[in-house]
Amino acid sequence: MENLLRDPNMARIDNAEKAQAFINEQIRLIKEEVGDKKVLLALSGGVDSSVVAALLIKAVGSQFVAVHVNHGLLRKGEPEQVIRVFREEMKANLIYVDAVDRFLDLLAGVEDPEQKRKVIGKTFIDVFAEEAKKLDGIEFLAQGTIYPDILESNGIKAHHNVGGLPPELNFRLIEPVKFLYKDEVRVVGEALGLPHSMVYRQPFPGPGLGVRCPGAITRDRLEVVRESDAILREEFATNGLEGKVWQYFTVVPPFRSTGIKDGKRTFDYMVVLRAVNSIDATSATVEEIPYPLLFKIRDRILAEVPSVNRVLVDISPKPIATIEWE
Ligand code: XMP
Repeated sequence: MENLLRDPNMARIDNAEKAQAFINEQIRLIKEEVGDKKVLLALSGGVDSSVVAALLIKAVGSQFVAVHVNHGLLRKGEPEQVIRVFREEMKANLIYVDAVDRFLDLLAGVEDPEQKRKVIGKTFIDVFAEEAKKLDGIEFLAQGTIYPDILESNGIKAHHNVGGLPPELNFRLIEPVKFLYKDEVRVVGEALGLPHSMVYRQPFPGPGLGVRCPGAITRDRLEVVRESDAILREEFATNGLEGKVWQYFTVVPPFRSTGIKDGKRTFDYMVVLRAVNSIDATSATVEEIPYPLLFKIRDRILAEVPSVNRVLVDISPKPIATIEWE
């Protein structure tokens, strides 16, 4: 019977040396288990799946296939980073699937937050299963399950789990980081040579920017979310807040307000800034962004993102608010 719990005597992986020992051991185990068979992985570009991909590349490189599905709800630059790091630098067999139109067409008019999540989760599995069926001789499916996912298995990552695959895709699972906590996965990721920005990136929900475009997602509003988020992240990085603040992003509500530009009335979107600190996402406090930085971010968003005439700040803690808007 498979071991479901972490060995209580297992030392915490908190330095490069312990990370290297873990990597060597996992490479040995993966080689032993996989033999000459092929392994598939859904690579989101998040820390967990990226670390698993890097381990598999080192262990069984040519027998490893990664599939990166772009559902149109990723942050600016994310698909490009996945392609650069894994295909160009690490020489992985990476299949990039541009499923943007498919997701956004299916999401058109879907207002309810849980229904949006269901559409995203189901479509993700459909797209991934279609890609898997095109490939011959895949025996194993690797997953970036980490220990907290096991401890709270109906937790927030449930939809990430590719466990809902159709029965004919009867893969054997490989989960090399399933006994690691997040901080340990990051130490291993650095030791594997993954970029710092990938290893230490802030938490990002599976449904992506979709939950930051409340109500029915439209392409124009989604672009406003993506562009304003990129400005916020850039300014946080330049001003030393990256890696210090737990989570920061923008939200664009589904209605417009009046403004004035070049002497003419405008009727445009508003961008809400949100920056919170948390330990485990069950509660959160609001980061006090200094006013000069807020003004800089406001000026850039108003100047650089079309169809925006207002910038607001969300100062609500969790509870009573949640971190995301839906
Ligand atoms: P809330 O909004 O519930 O978010 O305070 C708590 C944490 O979970 C993330 N989150 C999600 N992550 N799928 C995910 O993988 C989801 O559907 C989802 N909803 C929220 C959120 O970003 C925060 O870190």
